[in-house]
Amino acid sequence: MTAAAAAGLAARFVGRFGRAPQVAWWAPGRVNLIGEHTDYNDGFVLPLAIPYGVAAAVAARPDGVLRVASAQVPGAPVEVAVEALAPGAVSGWAAYIVGVVWALRAEGHPVGGADVLVDGDVPLGAGLSSSAALGCAVAAALADRGGLALPRPELARLAQRSENAFVGAPTGIMDQSAALLATAGHALFLDTRTLAAEQVPLDLPGHHLALLVVDTRAPHALVDGAYADRRRTCAAAARTLGVPALRDVPAGGLDAALAALADPVARRRVRHVVTENDRVLRTVDLLRRGDLRAVGPLLTASHESLRDDYEVSVPRLDVAVAAALAAGALGARVTGGGFGGCVVVLVAAAAVPSLAAAVADAFAAHGWDRPRPFTVLPTAGAHPLDVSG
Ligand code: GLA
Repeated sequence: MTAAAAAGLAARFVGRFGRAPQVAWWAPGRVNLIGEHTDYNDGFVLPLAIPYGVAAAVAARPDGVLRVASAQVPGAPVEVAVEALAPGAVSGWAAYIVGVVWALRAEGHPVGGADVLVDGDVPLGAGLSSSAALGCAVAAALADRGGLALPRPELARLAQRSENAFVGAPTGIMDQSAALLATAGHALFLDTRTLAAEQVPLDLPGHHLALLVVDTRAPHALVDGAYADRRRTCAAAARTLGVPALRDVPAGGLDAALAALADPVARRRVRHVVTENDRVLRTVDLLRRGDLRAVGPLLTASHESLRDDYEVSVPRLDVAVAAALAAGALGARVTGGGFGGCVVVLVAAAAVPSLAAAVADAFAAHGWDRPRPFTVLPTAGAHPLDVSG
């Protein structure tokens, strides 16, 4: 975020609360390159942070009252006493902020009242983790203001706890980790069991490549229930197989695992998770060797697996992927939880305009809203903003 944008944030804070903020942090959304629906199976993910995110400005209050406002939501701030915080106390967008205060306090961190203003530019509901960006920006700002020396992985876990237990969204740790741990020019290879992280170089310009994200604007439907449903199926399959999590089924053990599962739906879900973990490891190997182009087919295979085995795709995602591939993409896949949102396309940089046009044409032929394409470069994770004026 630029100095001018930070000054604008500070001015909006004054406009809402009548005084200056004390600290502010920015945290990014993410695109997941590969490793989808693996994080809650203790598996591997490979997201990158994108240059769109959420800023959170904070000033402490001595009276134990939490007042939260969003630059995107007009009207009076949402107010709640910190002593009264419990899951269910607040709903809607404000829960993503209040939940972080609740999570910090639930773990004994001395966080009291505060005025909080958030301001973001991550497209909402597009599968780019606007909610994790929000939670992580707030967590980092509150920790900074409170002088809490919390390491970034710990902030990620607290933001996830807020989303799981306060907001009620049973997400994994991928999005928060990307928002806090990503570095510029790299994808974040994360083992979600051990939380071991490796920054894997992703030098797109150096290889004359681009990552094109296409927001399909497909309306989300049944997302929450379907996500929780898949989590339950995976956990039950792991129990049947006698392993702590599906991550413990190696690619070489897939056939035996499938033979041990009676339910065809469970078999499909397990096949996706096991093959997807393997695709992440193969992608990381290729990136370490600088063979970026060879990653393309793995992305496309991931999409097919998410479409056919995990069943989280929708027609607009499939059409976007097919049109991108027909127009010369090296690989393309849905990114994020699915059921709408964005596809990510690996493409020669010179071909970005023609490829974006091809996807738009395919959507027009179906009579769908125009998709929104944009390229991203891997960006650094959360950082403080200077709001001292
Ligand atoms: C959402 C969740 C993540 C992850 C993805 C699917 O983005 O927040 O934790 O499970 O879906 O890979």
